[in-house]
Amino acid sequence: MNILLLGSGGRESALAWKISRSPLTEKLFIAPGNGGTGLYGTNVKLNPLDFEGVKKFAADNAIDMIVVGNEDPLVAGIYDYMSAELPQVLVVGPSKEGARLEGSKDFAKNFMNRHGIPTARHRSFSAAEAEQGCGFLATLQAPYVLKADGLAAGKGVLIIDDLKEAQDSLREMLSGKFGSASATVVVEEFLSGIECSVFVLTDGNDGYRVLPVAKDYKRIGEGDTGLNTGGMGAVSPVPFADEVFMEKVRQRIIEPTVKGLAQEGIVYRGFIFLGLINVGGEPMVIEYNVRMGDPETEAVMLRIDSDLVPLMEAAARGNLGDMELLHSPLAAATVMMVSGGYPGSYPKGKVMTGLDDVDESTLFHAGTAIDAEGRTVTSGGRVIAVSSTAPTLAEALEKSYRSAGKIHFDGAYYRRDIGRDVMK
Ligand code: AMP
Ligand code: GLY
Repeated sequence: MNILLLGSGGRESALAWKISRSPLTEKLFIAPGNGGTGLYGTNVKLNPLDFEGVKKFAADNAIDMIVVGNEDPLVAGIYDYMSAELPQVLVVGPSKEGARLEGSKDFAKNFMNRHGIPTARHRSFSAAEAEQGCGFLATLQAPYVLKADGLAAGKGVLIIDDLKEAQDSLREMLSGKFGSASATVVVEEFLSGIECSVFVLTDGNDGYRVLPVAKDYKRIGEGDTGLNTGGMGAVSPVPFADEVFMEKVRQRIIEPTVKGLAQEGIVYRGFIFLGLINVGGEPMVIEYNVRMGDPETEAVMLRIDSDLVPLMEAAARGNLGDMELLHSPLAAATVMMVSGGYPGSYPKGKVMTGLDDVDESTLFHAGTAIDAEGRTVTSGGRVIAVSSTAPTLAEALEKSYRSAGKIHFDGAYYRRDIGRDVMK
């Protein structure tokens, strides 16, 4: 089949790598892709939010299936648009209504409450309710968690120790700090524990498969310090997410989520990302995302032994049936190399060397481009995800770190402590 993958990050590189290995894949296009995705298919200059352009490209190139990598087109309704305009093309992803699980934190919290899915206690407040919100904050214990309702590029969550500061921030958010994304703010109780990412592929009809579990590392600094980033590394599996924990996740979270969507008539044929926290052995939902995680995907794809293309096709058709999704017994580790200065401002166009010397890892390009002279150069904050597998997590990490040591560009930085917390 001919497949169009939308997106341009490390996640899309890993998806493209996996899709390109399927014997079912005839042509793979990546829109817009990056400096590495051309290894797996053809990059297409196309903005995933330009639905008309996507439709025209899909029609002109006999596309059978569209895989949506990032949330923006899903939240904007690409599933519904394509289903109406080109019904013969399969789309892997939720409908616009389903994408609200990520697009609106208030919607997600209410969905969880309706279906008895464990999550932090919360209340939502609009601008007119700022003072009630401040009153509610006073009833909670520090630290205080404030979340902009809408998409805010990963910057919409504030965790604040001081009550007065939290109340000031709430007022500030409600008066437009994150634009319309914070017209409503979710205030919730703080949960203490270690996080992990669980990915589910669902067909929207009670059928689902659980992908390998991963953990990502969000902060720029070692020991989880400093500013939040798009993700500095990932490991899979996650030692604390053992059979007992995962059984609780299945019973208390995955099944009610999948069944709840079907019951409410919400069309959802794609990946569900459960951001979970382990609170004393009990899983609770921090957030839903409606796509795969980045950089978790760069570790997770290496641990799927089954062909993902027929699984995605079956999910998009609404019937996973008894198809297997086999997990590899190997461990995977991803180390993200980033531009100096990231997540603040950083230079672009730095020439990258040493990529060809890497022989024990898979390199998933993220912020890279090919310059006029054919050289691979940096073009973003997160530059390249160095991913490896091995019988143990420790060995997989060693491989990724050896490989990262061979790759050079001005200002390159990466955390040296990926995976250390879960191996203790
Ligand atoms: P979110 O965008 O909802 O994933 O929030 C970003 C990050 O904030 C999460 O990955 C958590 O590390 C943290 N966080 C969000 N909600 C809570 C909570 N209720 N308790 C503790 N940490 C939280
Ligand atoms: N790694 C977290 C995310 O993709 O949102």
